[in-house]
Amino acid sequence: MRIVATQSLPGPAWDELPEVELLEQWPPPEPLPDVAVLVAVVARVGAEELALVPDLRLVANYGVGYDTVDVAACRERGIAVTNTPGVLDAAVADLTLALILACRRHVVTSDRFVREQRWRRGWARPELLGRDLAGSTLGLVGLGRIGSEVAWRAEAFGMHVVHHRRSGGIPLDELLRAADVVSLHVPLTQETRGLLSRERLALLQDGATLINTARGAIVDEEALVDELASGRISAGLDVFSHEPRVPERLLALPNVVLTPHIASATVETRAAMTRVLVDNVLAFLEGESPPNLVS
Ligand code: DGY
Repeated sequence: MRIVATQSLPGPAWDELPEVELLEQWPPPEPLPDVAVLVAVVARVGAEELALVPDLRLVANYGVGYDTVDVAACRERGIAVTNTPGVLDAAVADLTLALILACRRHVVTSDRFVREQRWRRGWARPELLGRDLAGSTLGLVGLGRIGSEVAWRAEAFGMHVVHHRRSGGIPLDELLRAADVVSLHVPLTQETRGLLSRERLALLQDGATLINTARGAIVDEEALVDELASGRISAGLDVFSHEPRVPERLLALPNVVLTPHIASATVETRAAMTRVLVDNVLAFLEGESPPNLVS
């Protein structure tokens, strides 16, 4: 029985797994016989990929979001799927606040202004005037573990927090009209794909900021790029619809801060995610039910 991984993972727990073969390519160019466990790191695992690993029994996904894994197709073939919840909420919330601050206080454009030696005298220019977090309204779309971590951090900055979720809060359209900053904290599902449509993006106030550390496809990306190109709103984006591709039109815009899906990327958090993943795999190998089954 083989264990394969699309990437090796950081942290000491990784060495607790029996021999892991690192794949040079995913999907593999040829079928992989006798592979029972696949450690999947941002890797698409759909019906086509599953056909290449005929003996697969477990997809251990590195991350809380498992939208790249076709869980229904796995279930049909009796393949278990696990994820790594509960250990990355604080790190994702930290990056959310970092993006809010970066956008509302022009941190990235100011950095560029200094590096390009355009700061000649006195205080910097009016276009670098930001907006106070204190007294502004943060609208959270989703109030699960990560959304809740964002909420108390934002409240510590003096923000007024409102939220929308399936089972409560205010209606989504009302939130979009009311908030100075909107931040997305829902998983990508059939229900949330394209949730922020062109029509909904148009509801955002002039000068509002959209933060996305969840999944790119929750937003109509083309419509978002249009809004950003118009200069009407700003955005802090850690995730995109077709990663690692980022829409080219975004690259030249001063009103958007772009990061390469790093919300959980701290030494501590990534090691903790590895610990959770390894525990899932070890439980499976011992014939027990893995603690973080999603299927
Ligand atoms: C997750 O766990 O889904 C995150 O997006 C990884 O950063």
